[in-house]
This record gives sequence, C-alpha cells and structure tokens, in this order.
Amino acid sequence: MENLSKYDNCFLDVAAPIIKHEEYQKMKHIPHHHGCVYDHCLDVAYFSYKIAHRFGLDVESTIRGALLHDFYLYKFKKGKDKNILMEGYRHSRNHPQIAIDNALKYFQLNDKEIDIIQNHMFPLGFPRSSEAWITTLADKTLAIAEYSSRLRSYFQLKYYRIAYATFNKESE
Ligand SMILES: [Fe+2]
Ligand SMILES: [Fe+2]
Repeated sequence: MENLSKYDNCFLDVAAPIIKHEEYQKMKHIPHHHGCVYDHCLDVAYFSYKIAHRFGLDVESTIRGALLHDFYLYKFKKGKDKNILMEGYRHSRNHPQIAIDNALKYFQLNDKEIDIIQNHMFPLGFPRSSEAWITTLADKTLAIAEYSSRLRSYFQLKYYRIAYATFNKESE
C-alpha cells in the first residue's frame, strides 16, 4: 500500500473514496511531466485544499474537484509526424471535458466540482468560483515545478555524462 502519511486526516477523509477507486488508481500508469497523473492530481488537490482551508472556502468540493481535474485515462503522446503544438492545444482544450465524463461515470459531482474540472485550463476555461481559481493556480504552479525538476534532472544527467566522458579521457 502506498504511503499517504504526507497528507492530513481532514484531506484523506474526503479524498479516500476517490483515490481508492480502482479506475482512479489507473492514473498511476499515465505519465505526466516528471511522474504520473495520479501523483500530480493528489499534489494539486492537497495544495488547493490547504489554500481553500486557509481562506475558509468549500474544502470538500475543492479536494474532490482538484483530485478529478485531470481524470483522463489515456497517454498523451506527441506523434512525430503531426503538428506537436496543435496536438498539445487539442489535449489542453479537450481533457477537462474527458475528465468530467470519466468522473461522472463513477462519482457524483456538484456544480462547483464541475466548474473546477471544466475550467482548470484557464485561459481556455474561465473559473466561476474561488475554489476553481485556487485549483487552476495550484495546477499551474505545480506544473511549472514539475517541469523544472524534470529539466534539472535532464541537465544534471547531461552534465554527469560529459564529466564522466572527460574524466575517462583524462585517465587514459
Ligand atoms: Fe489538466
Ligand atoms: Fe493538472
């Protein structure tokens, strides 16, 4: 069983019925930025929950909506022959509705939760509630952090390879 100890009980009480669902668990196999969609959604939900709690907002809808904001179950791959920008745009535009359609198959959603999912790709969507604004900001903040850590690892790896090759040459 995975380690959920970094999350507090208030968060886990609301999140558990969603994150333990077998369809939701499938997101562990969907790659995203530096890891998988499952980890990304949990991080966005926890970050959003902390902010919503701080401002006395609807914590339950924030957690549920944020957990489900990227509930698409396909691997987004950039095809070699296709227009990468166009594919990226299409994915950005379409996946919120796909996430809603998936979520409605397994969970009941209120209007605020639908708003959170539907509009998290601002400016492609426009959030109507504070909770949806919080989630879109948390999503973007974490996406930037995830990309940066991926870039950092990439450049670190490159640096190690160059250093290793140089060291080997010098010791010949
Ligand atoms: Fe998304
Ligand atoms: Fe996201």
